[in-house]
Amino acid sequence: MIDKTGSEGFVSFDHVQKSYDGENLVVKDLNLEIAKGEFLTMLGPSGSGKTTCLMMLAGFETATHGDIRLGGVSINNIPPHKRGIGMVFQNYALFPHMTVAENLSFPLEVRKIGKSEREAKVQRALDMVQMGEFGGRRPAQLSGGQQQRVALARALVFEAELVLMDEPLGALDKQLREHMQFEIKRIADNLGITVVYVTHDQTEALTMSDRVAVFDDGRIQQLAPPDQLYEEPMSSFVAQFIGENNALDGVVQSIDNGVALVKLATGDLIDANPINVSKVGEKTRVSIRPERVEFDMNRLAEGSHTLKAEVLEFVYMGDTFRTRLRVADNDEFIVKTRNAPDQVRLQPGAVVDIGWMPSDCRALDA
Ligand SMILES: Nc1ncnc2c1ncn2[C@@H]1O[C@H](COP(=O)(O)OP(=O)(O)OP(=O)(O)O)[C@@H](O)[C@H]1O
Ligand SMILES: [Mg+2]
Repeated sequence: MIDKTGSEGFVSFDHVQKSYDGENLVVKDLNLEIAKGEFLTMLGPSGSGKTTCLMMLAGFETATHGDIRLGGVSINNIPPHKRGIGMVFQNYALFPHMTVAENLSFPLEVRKIGKSEREAKVQRALDMVQMGEFGGRRPAQLSGGQQQRVALARALVFEAELVLMDEPLGALDKQLREHMQFEIKRIADNLGITVVYVTHDQTEALTMSDRVAVFDDGRIQQLAPPDQLYEEPMSSFVAQFIGENNALDGVVQSIDNGVALVKLATGDLIDANPINVSKVGEKTRVSIRPERVEFDMNRLAEGSHTLKAEVLEFVYMGDTFRTRLRVADNDEFIVKTRNAPDQVRLQPGAVVDIGWMPSDCRALDA
């Protein structure tokens, strides 16, 4: 289980900063404890500092300030071959002139492991990723997914306790990517290895991770398990970055009994959960998930505020219906409903009342 007691993790970043040019900090103040056996994902937009953090942990870059520890020991004091870190990159980085088996054998030779033990370990690692039959092929004779499996096996072959993966599935098509997400997660769980995984695909982050660190501008904006990240975003950035989100801008009119009344530019009043607003008159951006919007008034609490909405588009998606509405000047307001036998299909042009539970609508920073 993950140790969430706040004690020192297996990996710790302690006030880490990084500048490449001595001027601009691309990692600003990173504090992160990763537990042994945890699957932690760094998720964030391009340029937010994810790869830089991974490179510092792997020892390919040094921190400008702060300390990175592995098992309580500063990584500066651990020689690279004793770090026990496996790495998987987006472009596989397999040696093209070597066979699959030779690619896997290489890190073992570097570690001075004898031939028979090497062969056994290589076979075991290839079996683990269902590539046991492919040891004699060269990377060019494999599909993208197969190459990625070999890259994964190579990171696992010397029984690394910590595996770092930087967008390892970025080059694969959607179906294969989803399959590999499941497989990587399963192998990591079975072996009990600690994984630090980098992606800018939020679905990937949500489905694979024990915890996700959302990066922006060289800082962790929120660190939480996937369900908490999705359901309880603590800032507008995270609400917008994770999952689909509807945002409405307004001003706090009152805060009573844990419910904020927010006045939109149109004069409409809506109910929200005051997350990072505290004062009357404060600007806020409220955030509501498309599946939490209600247009069946029987399902709302007595006294709930409602809004008029014009239906702009109805999209049939099989398992769900996705309806785009105009709500208080926002033409991109999305409502998602389950395709149930009694579900209403809203028609473009119709004007409906919508509402929600105040607890599902978060008043965040504007
Ligand atoms: N070797 C380098 N020298 C100088 N600047 C660099 C170097 N590597 C990265 N940077 C800069 O540091 C910042 C963070 O880059 P980084 O590669 O860590 O981002 P990232 O979050 O991995 O982005 P992406 O999702 O695009 O891979 C960027 O502004 C980038 O231009
Ligand atoms: Mg990167």
